[in-house]
Amino acid sequence: MLAEPDHRFVLSNLGRFTDVVRLKGGRSLTVRFLEPKDADALLFYFRSLSRQSRYNRLMGAASELPPSELDKALHIGEGSRFAVIAEMKIDGVDTIVGESRYSYDAQTQNTEFGLSIGDAWQGQGIGTAMLSNLECRSAALGALRLFGETFRNNDQMIGLARKAGYAFAGAPSDWRLTRFEKPLYRATEIPCESWKQAAMAGWMPNEALLAAR
Ligand SMILES: CC(C)(COP(=O)(O)OP(=O)(O)OC[C@H]1O[C@@H](n2cnc3c(N)ncnc32)[C@H](O)[C@@H]1OP(=O)(O)O)[C@@H](O)C(=O)NCCC(=O)NCCS
Repeated sequence: MLAEPDHRFVLSNLGRFTDVVRLKGGRSLTVRFLEPKDADALLFYFRSLSRQSRYNRLMGAASELPPSELDKALHIGEGSRFAVIAEMKIDGVDTIVGESRYSYDAQTQNTEFGLSIGDAWQGQGIGTAMLSNLECRSAALGALRLFGETFRNNDQMIGLARKAGYAFAGAPSDWRLTRFEKPLYRATEIPCESWKQAAMAGWMPNEALLAAR
């Protein structure tokens, strides 16, 4: 019997779950858990999104990330909720170019997520890279499915999900939304650090990593 993910382990080892992902053009993207020191940069990131992107991400009109949402995002692991940021070096400075929040439901073994990429960085494959990384992070938590919901007219998210192999259905909660869902397998094409950490903590079988403990 596998161990359940221990969120205190995650919390005390936040930095160990950092992934460096290579983008199509050769640039590197760092995906890591949000930390308290990132709060101001994350607020700035949300304020800088276009009105449309923010609307699509927050599912409604808001000029910034609501304080209650920020607070939840900063409590990594609580209620099996997680927040990650994607950073790139811009003019030598680590800059948030994307973010995602996801939550794992141990009962259904589903992970639900939402994500955004800053307008200046959209269309460069960053959303695709983040989604692959989220799939790996979710699988490492024990999830069998990853799903999200978005407005039916959000062509960008629908295009990204379709290209990444998600299936679509109506969202049970709201007729304006579509739900996209993908089964997760034990083997992923893009392993992430969470996978390794989960194996090391004994949450999932990975013989090579367990042997190296
Ligand atoms: C949706 C979003 C995350 C996509 O990120 P991205 O980095 O631009 O996506 P990518 O560059 O990886 O594009 C991947 C694929 O998505 C599709 N896509 C991207 N933009 C599209 C558009 N405007 N219309 C249709 N399809 C589009 C394409 O299939 C694209 O593949 P291609 O470049 O080979 O054609 C980004 O547009 C965003 O943050 N939007 C605002 C917030 C939001 O809507 N979040 C979703 C809430 S869950």
